[in-house]
Amino acid sequence: MIEKEKLILALESSCDETAAAVVRGDGKVLSNVISSQIETHKKTAGVVPEVAARKHVGKLQVVFDKALEEAEVSMNEVDYFAVTQGPGLLTALVCGTTFMGTQAFLYGKKLIPTNHIKGHILSCTLDRNLEDFEFPIVVLSVSGGHNDLYLVHDWNKIEKLGSTLDDAAGEAYDKVAKTLGLEYPGGPEISRVALDGDPKRFELPYPLRNQPYNFSFSGLKTNVKYLVGELGGISSMNNKDIADVAASFQWTINNNLVNKTIKAAEEFGVKEIHLVGGVSANKELRKQFEEAISGRFKFRFPLSFGYCTDNAAMIGGAARFVDKDKWIEPGEPVDALLEWDF
Ligand code: KG4
Ligand code: ZN
Repeated sequence: MIEKEKLILALESSCDETAAAVVRGDGKVLSNVISSQIETHKKTAGVVPEVAARKHVGKLQVVFDKALEEAEVSMNEVDYFAVTQGPGLLTALVCGTTFMGTQAFLYGKKLIPTNHIKGHILSCTLDRNLEDFEFPIVVLSVSGGHNDLYLVHDWNKIEKLGSTLDDAAGEAYDKVAKTLGLEYPGGPEISRVALDGDPKRFELPYPLRNQPYNFSFSGLKTNVKYLVGELGGISSMNNKDIADVAASFQWTINNNLVNKTIKAAEEFGVKEIHLVGGVSANKELRKQFEEAISGRFKFRFPLSFGYCTDNAAMIGGAARFVDKDKWIEPGEPVDALLEWDF
């Protein structure tokens, strides 16, 4: 564990956000700079890895410099560098690891290779006091790329309880948005449109009832496609129909996430439930969690929306817990890794 007053300059480039942040050893985030490629990927309604890599190259130095500037610290005051080593898109990861390996050599700093998923899992600790948390904790981490349920015994002892057998929730949000003629990324679009919708108008099947901690959203996505077909296709649906389908889908998928997480929390007798990852930005999901938990467990989500979707603050946060024997000396090679144990 890194000392409380040390400063980490962290970089994230595993998918379509180029991000850098300065995080203190006690978890205080001094800056969190995110350059999103969303406008680029809207054209293809998803991320093309080579395109993402090209965009990262143009932004790495920009976000790196800006993170220092916004934190109002000089390079001399930075103690360590951290970088997302994996998992993610290989072409995108290589950009970040190569860049930070070079910076570490130039400035003579040790580089802490960090796991992206662990960054999400620990994102509720940012700007919070570590002593306030009570183990064990059930963490639901949901984004476009992953959908996992974890039992956290300690910050370095994390057990995976289950994950998605096909699509992640964020991916399902993105695909259903496309079916409804909405833009990428679909999560924020569905929640915006669903505000005017009736979540009870259409009853969609409850996904994967017989496996408590695994998820499956591919069928739900297909159910929405059939429903749109039954309503005569998107061109003959009015705004109310679209809002009702969006709201019904949102309620169903959220309800599934909530139920499975609470079941795990009950089963393992935990004190806290954390909701993290890009989909944790969904306000309706937070509300459904709060209602279902009704005070039985402490419920937390990241303190800023900027810590939900991909960001470098969470990488700096998780870097605090990486064993020293994994740290990379200045000038040593740093590989991107697609799989990595916590
Ligand atoms: O964590 P993240 O930035 O990247 C991945 O690691 O995938 O998550 C992005 C995902 C996208 O699928 C996006 O649609 C979803 O998070 N998302 C949301 C919301 N905001 C982002 N899903 C539901 N509701 C939201 N408000
Ligand atoms: Zn992510």
